[in-house]
Formats: sequence, structure tokens, C-alpha cells
Amino acid sequence: MFIAKTKQEIDQFTPRDRKVGFVPTMGALHEGHASLVTASKLDGHFTVASIFVNPTQFNDPKDFEKYPVDTERDLEALEAAGCDLVFLPTRSEIYPSGTDLERYIHDFGALENRLEGAFRPGHFRGVGQVVHILFEAVRPDVAYFGEKDFQQLQVIKQLVKQLNSAIEIKGMPTVREPDGLAMSSRNRRLTPTQRTASTLLYQALSRAAQVLVEQGVDAAREQVKRSFEGNAHLRLEYFDIIDPVTFLPRKEGDSGTHHAVIAAYAGDVRLIDNLRLD
Ligand code: PAF
Repeated sequence: MFIAKTKQEIDQFTPRDRKVGFVPTMGALHEGHASLVTASKLDGHFTVASIFVNPTQFNDPKDFEKYPVDTERDLEALEAAGCDLVFLPTRSEIYPSGTDLERYIHDFGALENRLEGAFRPGHFRGVGQVVHILFEAVRPDVAYFGEKDFQQLQVIKQLVKQLNSAIEIKGMPTVREPDGLAMSSRNRRLTPTQRTASTLLYQALSRAAQVLVEQGVDAAREQVKRSFEGNAHLRLEYFDIIDPVTFLPRKEGDSGTHHAVIAAYAGDVRLIDNLRLD
């Protein structure tokens, strides 16, 4: 496995007579990330992963400071998953001073202001900015993103449209712990009690699917909100049942796909999840 610290090194190590699959990450890797590398390898691509904890997408500086970093372990995991090249840039490699970084900022319209965007102002602008810069550096044919960050996936799809880019964006299924908790780099910051309590997110999503069928969308919303009331370990930030393209709330009787999205805090650890309900 090659390690590239600069954009020039990426060019040096990447064969351009093969398709390139790209897995951008912020490190603290888990099986979810490994599944993206595996997907790219199974598609037959020269597979590049990046590890860069992007400061511009953290609306809360404390969250950035606390973001787990374990590069040695990450490199081992990537090697084990069969990754061909890891891009491990410094901050100044991504954001060199004296360059026009504004040209990487995109407006994602309503999508960046709803749900995740509403609770994390500026987050998706930061994600769009860094992913645009990474795409320019890696020049992938296909890029793989986990469906756990469901709104991010839609943002990236909009990004490639805005760039008129031919990069194919593949959304891959959320990888879950045996009790249903979606794998996330943040899970390792949970105390054992919080970890146990956190299974409620997936339970609530699954229950919403059932209530939606039996009693409708409003009842499903109510049921989930009630299930968090009085919980000593979790604080619900939002739950909604939405149209997965516009992210607008579904109304009673609406046809089309219903998608549930949720965010909750366990202490100061923010967890998100989502589930297609029908
Ligand atoms: O999903 C992530 O880990 C990050 O948002 C990404 C896409 C690597 C951009 O920093």
C-alpha cells in the first residue's frame, strides 16, 4: 500500500490506465469504512482512501478537538481491507495559504439548511469544500460514501452535478453492530452505559417503520419522540420522516418513499442514523 502525503505523490503512485475508486474518510476507521474499500476492490478499481480530519466542516470546535485520531491503526485497517493508496495530507496541503479557497465553496440550497444542516450550520459547505478539493487531487472515477451520513450523500451527489463531473457516487449500506447501532467513529467515545442506551436510535427507526404502516406518519413521529422522553442517557435532537430527495417532511397520505432520519446526543457525543421505511 502506497502512502501519499502530497497531490504530486498521488499522481506518482496512481495508475491512470485503471479505474480509480475513492473512499474519503476522517480516520478513526471502523468496519463501515472497510466495507467501502472492499466495495471499490470488488468493483475492480485501484482504490485510494484519504484520511483528513477536515476543520471546515466542524461547526463546534470542541467536536473537532475531540475527534478521535489513530493513524497507525487506520493504516493497518486500510492495508487489511486491500486499499492500494492512502492520501494522508497535512492541513496546508489541502488548504494552502494564498490560494482561492472560496472557489471550492458550494451552495447546496435548501438541502444544506434542513435537519443536519439546520443543527450544524456551515457543515455541508465544509464537506462540499473538502470533497471538491479531494476529488481534484485524487481524480477518481467512482467515489464511495456510507448511507449512514444520508444527507451528506445527497450533498455529494449535488456537488458532482454542480461540477458537471463524471465521477460516479455510490452510496453503500450502513454497517451496524449486532444490536443495530450504526457504526461510527464517535461510538468509541461512548461510556458503556451510553453505548447500551444508544441502541434506542435504531430501535426507534425500526419501530417507526411499523407504526407508519399501521397508523400513519404523524403517529410514527409521535411514537419516536415519546420513546426518548425521560431517557437519562440520550437527548433527541431531531427525528423526522422525509422525502429522501428534497428532505422535506412527509405529510399524512403522501405517496412515495418515506425515509426516517434521527440525531441524538449521548452526553456530548452526537449520533445520527436513518432508515428507509417503505
Ligand atoms: O464522512 C466523512 O467522513 C467526511 O464528511 C468526509 C466525506 C470524509 C469529508 O471530510
